[in-house]
Amino acid sequence: MVQLLNEFDCERTLKNGTYWMPFTANRRVKEDPASRIITSAKGAYYYTPDGKPLFDTLSGLWCTPLGHGHPRIVEALKTQAETLDYCTAFQMANPVTVRLAERIAGMAPNGLDHVFFANSGSEAVDTALKIALGYHRLRGEGSRFRMIGRERGYHGVGFGGMSVGGIVPNRKMFATGMMNGVDHLRHTYDSAHMAFSKGQPDWGVEYAEDLERLIGLHDASTIAAVIVEPVQGSTGVLVPPVGYLQGLREICTKHGILLIFDEVITGFGRMGDNFASQRFNVKPDMITFAKAVTNGIVPMGGVIVSSDIYDTFMTGPKNAVEFAHGYTYSGHPLAAAVGHAVLDIMEEEALISRARGLEPILEEAIHSLADLEGIKDIRNIGLTAAIDLVPASDAPGARGLALFELGLKNGLLLRCTGDTVSFGPPFISTPEQLQDMVETVRRLIVSVTQ
Ligand SMILES: Cc1ncc(COP(=O)(O)O)c(C=O)c1O
Repeated sequence: MVQLLNEFDCERTLKNGTYWMPFTANRRVKEDPASRIITSAKGAYYYTPDGKPLFDTLSGLWCTPLGHGHPRIVEALKTQAETLDYCTAFQMANPVTVRLAERIAGMAPNGLDHVFFANSGSEAVDTALKIALGYHRLRGEGSRFRMIGRERGYHGVGFGGMSVGGIVPNRKMFATGMMNGVDHLRHTYDSAHMAFSKGQPDWGVEYAEDLERLIGLHDASTIAAVIVEPVQGSTGVLVPPVGYLQGLREICTKHGILLIFDEVITGFGRMGDNFASQRFNVKPDMITFAKAVTNGIVPMGGVIVSSDIYDTFMTGPKNAVEFAHGYTYSGHPLAAAVGHAVLDIMEEEALISRARGLEPILEEAIHSLADLEGIKDIRNIGLTAAIDLVPASDAPGARGLALFELGLKNGLLLRCTGDTVSFGPPFISTPEQLQDMVETVRRLIVSVTQ
């Protein structure tokens, strides 16, 4: 394999497009493919073919909070591959996966006691939406078929997640394939009232009332579930106003609507707590998770479900499959073994409290950029933050792209979407690494906005 790769011309193959890159401006990559190749990673850094480090400012895609190449994870993967490398999850079980379900349920808010495994955030979301439909049908309320998402929400790219999602470019090309009956809450971002907030904005609790508007329009008897990210990650760390999530919870409970928190980014410590629902003290009926559960090393996702929902499914003839859903790789033993190693490391190295301890350091560093011209907003919560650049008047998104490309030349792998740059550094980062990251970003922003 190494020999093969030594002879392999990665740049040429990127140029000819044999490899179609996901969520990527492929033609832009072809202009300079060499700058887009990473060959190894260790700790909080990626390395380019010529050995240059790139600080991992987003923990991969929000998924590698423990950094890269942790020897205990490597060992767990190897041992599991030697012991039980695959096991069907249909009608059979293995102790590694079963115990992981127990550990995850133990980390979740009380009453969310049952775990259904998938392999990605998108699959987790589609699973949760199907559980919601099944739940109402089993209770004799099959008329509840609508899902309510939120503008600017991201719930993956399956047909379900895409339909409840609220990012226009992800939707418009596939508009004819949308799920029936989906509607969207207004997003909660208002720069006039919230710009440069630290943590949760005090303004905007009334956005929760938007759910009453949709209930007034559709009638509660047609609505199955509301799905929101507690903090909207992919559209640039949109932090919920104080009281907003509580408001959604109350309205859902009043109308018999299930509340799903999509915690694919916020789960497993990113908010300084196991889950964002604990940080914000709001208990949903289901939590979707993925990413950090395995430190991004082997794909895994899943849904944590309330006992009320689980018990509703556990009815009917005993020999019947209660939920006709699942994936060939649901609860894959390799992913489960990695999940255990990740949770062991998080516990033993107290990494979730470390993330909490780093929050004020990131907050102070990132808000120190507020004096720069060319910045519209800076916001943060947990170990996440985002900066909105003022877009160039003739080319929205151009400054974000320029910043990303400059980052590669200056030791940072940045996550820029449009003119927004998001940060979700590894929990193992040191305060100095966070401060250095922000200082480099300062220099780069000056150069792209002047
Ligand atoms: C909140 C949320 N849900 C779902 C997904 C989709 O996850 P995946 O890319 O693993 O399918 C993401 C991915 O970033 C996400 O942030």
